[in-house]
Amino acid sequence: MELSIKSGDLAARRTPCLMLGVIGERQLTEPARLVDQASGGYLTQILARGDLDGEAGRTLLLHEVPGLKADRVLLVALGPQDKLDRKSYHKALAAAFLRLAEIRVKEALCTLHASAPPSLDFALALRDAVTVTLDKGYRYEATKSEKKPPLALAELQFWLAADNPKSLAKEALRRGQALAAGVSLAKELGNLPGNICTPGYLADQARVLAKAFPALKVEILEEDDMAKLGMGALLSVSRGSRQPAKLIVMNYRGDKKDAKPLVLVGKGLTFDAGGISLKPGPDMDQMKFDMCGAASVLGALRAALELKLPLNLIGVIPASENLPDGAANKPGDIVTSLSGQTIEILNTDAEGRLILCDALTYCERFEPAAVIDIATLTGACAIALGKVASGLFTADEALAADLLAAGERANDRAWRLPLWDDYQPLLDSNFADMANVGPREGGAISGACFLSRYAKKFPWAHLDIAGTAWLTGKEKGGTGRPVPLLVEFLLQRAEAAG
Ligand code: BES
Ligand code: MN
Ligand code: ZN
Repeated sequence: MELSIKSGDLAARRTPCLMLGVIGERQLTEPARLVDQASGGYLTQILARGDLDGEAGRTLLLHEVPGLKADRVLLVALGPQDKLDRKSYHKALAAAFLRLAEIRVKEALCTLHASAPPSLDFALALRDAVTVTLDKGYRYEATKSEKKPPLALAELQFWLAADNPKSLAKEALRRGQALAAGVSLAKELGNLPGNICTPGYLADQARVLAKAFPALKVEILEEDDMAKLGMGALLSVSRGSRQPAKLIVMNYRGDKKDAKPLVLVGKGLTFDAGGISLKPGPDMDQMKFDMCGAASVLGALRAALELKLPLNLIGVIPASENLPDGAANKPGDIVTSLSGQTIEILNTDAEGRLILCDALTYCERFEPAAVIDIATLTGACAIALGKVASGLFTADEALAADLLAAGERANDRAWRLPLWDDYQPLLDSNFADMANVGPREGGAISGACFLSRYAKKFPWAHLDIAGTAWLTGKEKGGTGRPVPLLVEFLLQRAEAAG
């Protein structure tokens, strides 16, 4: 979809559909007031009849409004004044988009961002308008035999009030579009089934990304390479699968050569059956989403590449399946990780940390400014935080503050959980340097503690996205989270550096 900025007299703009916000049942927003004036009070008159329910997201389509060049006017309720917040704003945007799709217009002119809640600055309001709209346009169709006709809407214009700088507006569109593309990639990879989205498929996706963005260099480590390095923990997981594991390493140098890189590490379990510690049957299909950390790394990288961020950025994806098999890990098995630390595998279903620990050790070679891993690591984190916030774990106060702030700004929030040393003994083992699991209590924290033992040589944070990466029930599907948080974090870093 093409996005553009238009300014000037709204009544004089030729457009198939002009979108105007209404507060409550009949209070006109500023753009609506301007149009109302040009139409000789027509909008006021219609609204006085009570045809628009004031609840956020209700719409009313008008034809042939006098005094305008627009073919149609779409009135969109933003909700009552006292309830105008980011949620109601998004609800209105989403509803407006669905209405535009229904009436199959090819082009529309949006003014809703001009009436966003005051908590959003102008650029963020505009960016939200783009991301919410493009997000609503995402449809999963890859494995459906019947494809829906493509969206008619080919161009969406955003009206710019006279006092807003055009350069800032253009940048907001650019960021919104790049972010939406990253989210959409992450959703699509999450949604693809395990028999298509295998470790090899993820590796291919990295190559596809590098083809589209030649600034990205991709290296794929095969099982032989990993064996030579000594990645005994990662390889122990993939031994139970017929799909060969891949370690995907993506390198983008947008900053000075010697600037230390940021590294994103994503858990890429393309299917997690639990291994010999087999998971129960119901809902096991959802474990195709166990590669959503990997998907978010690809999505965030895609956005960073499109935005040409002046950063050195590395993406690392350990990718594997976790299945029961004669060669699979058995409870009690002990493996030696790349770091040299030995691990007693008490539960083969705690496999994410086994592939991540070797990936984290591998990151030492990059001398990173910071490493952030993103993983659907523990059911316990989903139990604690539900589907609202991702779990954040780090001992680095500055990194914690930056990631939490990025989540707030991107509307993709994380919530910090403790990583105190008091929890470390939960991983004590009589037979190895550590066990791969602790007791059920504090399961998300002991998972993070396990990873922390492999992240001592660089600033590090861990995002547990077990609750936030996908939705269930009627809305079952990937969310693309935490791509917005990650991209916002990268934008902030890029701004701080540049
Ligand atoms: N991928 C799962 C975590 C998960 C479970 C995410 C359910 C989302 C929903 C992970 O590999 C796993 O199985 N973790 C175990 C850890 C336990 C054995 C310590 C879990 O959460 O049960
Ligand atoms: Mn598991
Ligand atoms: Zn898993």
